[in-house]
Amino acid sequence: MSSIKLSRRNMLLGTGAAVASLSAGSLALAQKPAPGERDPTSVPPTPDQIRRMKWWHEARFGMFIHFGLYSQHARHEWAMETEAIPIGDYTPLAKVFNPAPGSARGWAKLAKAAGMKYMVLTTKHHEGFCNFDTKLTDYCATKQGPGRDLVREYVEAARAEGLHVGFYYSLMDWHHPDGARCATDEAARKRFVEYTHGLIRELLTNYGKIDVLWYDVSWPLDAAGWESERMNKMVFELQPDIIVNNRNQLIGDFSTPEQKIVAETNGRAWESCMTLNDSWGFQRADDNWKSSRTIIRNLITCVRDGGNYLLNIGPRPDGAVPAESVRVLTEVGQWMAVNGETIYKSEICLPRRSNYASFTRTGNTLYMHVHFWPGQDVAISGLTVKVKSARLLKTNQEVKFTQDPYRVHLTGLPMDAPDSPVTTIAIVCDGEPQQDTNAVRKNKPRGGV
Ligand code: GLC
Repeated sequence: MSSIKLSRRNMLLGTGAAVASLSAGSLALAQKPAPGERDPTSVPPTPDQIRRMKWWHEARFGMFIHFGLYSQHARHEWAMETEAIPIGDYTPLAKVFNPAPGSARGWAKLAKAAGMKYMVLTTKHHEGFCNFDTKLTDYCATKQGPGRDLVREYVEAARAEGLHVGFYYSLMDWHHPDGARCATDEAARKRFVEYTHGLIRELLTNYGKIDVLWYDVSWPLDAAGWESERMNKMVFELQPDIIVNNRNQLIGDFSTPEQKIVAETNGRAWESCMTLNDSWGFQRADDNWKSSRTIIRNLITCVRDGGNYLLNIGPRPDGAVPAESVRVLTEVGQWMAVNGETIYKSEICLPRRSNYASFTRTGNTLYMHVHFWPGQDVAISGLTVKVKSARLLKTNQEVKFTQDPYRVHLTGLPMDAPDSPVTTIAIVCDGEPQQDTNAVRKNKPRGGV
């Protein structure tokens, strides 16, 4: 039994009888905001969630795309607020924003090549500009610079590559006249909620089957103010197979740790979202790129603990992906072509202690992912199962090993790392691999003084 304390309400939700009586998506209506943090009351998934989320759990790796007028401005997607840009100075960006046709095809091809299985595009970010065609505002791609529906292009591009399609939608809106006063003026709130629900209705009606709805920032209202239960109800009526996150102040189907990797408990689904540099939207001067090795290590950490990894690109105003992002994602894709199975098929993996490797697991096979290749030999401390065989995944070469009660010692390895930027050794064991390094510390014979 987990040490996490369950509330009575969630205990009830977790019982078979309660689960059986829940309709599609109804657990996603439960009120428990947990934006970006572990949910202390998380309950095991319902049968309906298990059904809707199957593809997503198998997907493991997705592409986040932040694209909007802020890409044109090229100074981070929060610039409108953090530079307090007057609305009259910001809205003209809509006239000049005109990404090249076919940009979305480039994003989708890149995602596929990187081993990603789904995409999530900002349909509307905090700036309020809609990348889609809408009857509810003129501040949208079809009626401004692009003169085209960028969301439709994206949906078609993702589908052409066989990728699942996700929509990001920011509830917070810095452009709409009711976007702030909705907090203090009931008439404004009603108008703004109708506008918000209306845009979401359009998004989930006009583009066929949508796989993920990714809400963001709910300022300045709470769940009651947004009428989030009614919102999610509409979402599941329009898209019975969709999954939704937890950022409209309801628990939703999965948690969303941001810029960090925080595993959920109890089988609750989670997805860590992260930037490739320090900005979500294109920021011209941000050159703080993560290496492909860091990305691969993060992906390993996510899947080791049962989560997904949603990695962001911030295309340039013309829709082209920054060269550095292309380079990193291409390297990740080359690695995934050899090592992908150890990611997609990963189950929760308990061994984690090493100073130069991280681990994933499928059944009784432990994958040791060596990111700092020490050369010729590697060792694992405290493995409590017997190793049957080991081989280098890249070359299929058998690896010799010895095992005593304290360590597995793999020898005869090449001096230089056989794979880049991370080399995987598949280690077949006689049971589910577990590691107890405390026992090693306590019991390993010490020398005399
Ligand atoms: C934050 C930021 C936003 C970004 C999002 C992605 O909420 O406000 O710019 O879109 O994180 O998770």
